[in-house]
Amino acid sequence: MAARLHPAPDQHREIVDLRRLSARDLEPLLEEECHAWRNELEWDFEKSADLVRRFVGMSALTGSALVEDGRVAGYMYYVLEEDKGLIGDLYVRHELRTVERENLLIASALDAMIDCPSVTRIESQLMMLHHDAARPAPRADYLSVFERNFMRIDLKRAVLGKGNPRRPMYVEKWSDHYHDAAAQLIATAYAGHIDSRINDQYRSPGGARRFLHNIVQYPGCGVFYRPASLVAFEGVSGTLCGISLASLVTPETGHVTQICVSPSVRGTGIGHELLRQSLSTLREMGCTSASLTVTAANEDAVALYERVGFETIRRFSAFAWEGF
Ligand SMILES: CC(C)(COP(=O)(O)OP(=O)(O)OC[C@H]1O[C@@H](n2cnc3c(N)ncnc32)[C@H](O)[C@@H]1OP(=O)(O)O)[C@@H](O)C(=O)NCCC(=O)NCCS
Repeated sequence: MAARLHPAPDQHREIVDLRRLSARDLEPLLEEECHAWRNELEWDFEKSADLVRRFVGMSALTGSALVEDGRVAGYMYYVLEEDKGLIGDLYVRHELRTVERENLLIASALDAMIDCPSVTRIESQLMMLHHDAARPAPRADYLSVFERNFMRIDLKRAVLGKGNPRRPMYVEKWSDHYHDAAAQLIATAYAGHIDSRINDQYRSPGGARRFLHNIVQYPGCGVFYRPASLVAFEGVSGTLCGISLASLVTPETGHVTQICVSPSVRGTGIGHELLRQSLSTLREMGCTSASLTVTAANEDAVALYERVGFETIRRFSAFAWEGF
């Protein structure tokens, strides 16, 4: 309700609980955010924005808005999953975007989640927050920051070539009955890996099952796209040894949501082959570009993507708070 957005005369800026706002109050901000995702990342954010509208409309979204001079300048929401809190989205309008405003919203998310006794860890990967290694962030004593690259490939120009796997293997399309074996593979592939410090779902088969469920069911990483989601098997034993999962983030843009290969067969061309086949399928199905995100310190993966033709078009930060 717009009347609620008018602050007291001496209060030019305030943090307001999202449950006090209507979807209409957030509409200009969400429209701008959808525009930004499309223009900057070739990503259709509408489905995610629709979920925000729906839950705000039901007063069921936990989070806050930063209201300045009666207008919503920014917002964030968070979700709780067992012992973990997740900042699901945070966006500050372009003309008002400052680290100070973003941090006010981050601090409000952290305060609310840290107050929940069950929460022991808080994560966020916010692509609309620009990465700056020197950026101050709230609750810095408990914070680890990881640089992530958003990479993009132009599929109209890419030369995907022929794969060169150096051991017997075969590839099949994703099917839901691979879910458990794929979850086991993720937990093995990311054991001791920097990405399992960013996303704790990678640390166990149970967590990886939830991760897979989320990317297959929910639009946060785009709409899961089965034709370009692949599973690799070792030729002799028939053991599942690699996966490459893809989504559509616009009808013409694919996104590789997950790629990993069993440590025992790494460096034999299986990851390259899976990526090549996923990208070729996306192109055959009409995609003109594809994107993925990768931790900057994951140098082998970055090198593979660059060799295939991906370029980094944005750097952003992944945050994890623990030990509070
Ligand atoms: C990234 C990953 C999927 C690559 O899979 P892979 O099967 O090992 O990759 P490939 O063997 O196809 O390697 C690609 C190329 O890099 C080369 N390569 C692989 N590992 C290398 C290494 N450690 N050093 C140098 N070159 C290497 C290979 O020779 C290969 O070249 P080719 O395709 O021309 O033969 C795999 O390392 C992995 O699962 N890592 C853990 C999970 C992960 O980081 N996923 C990516 C998250 S964004």
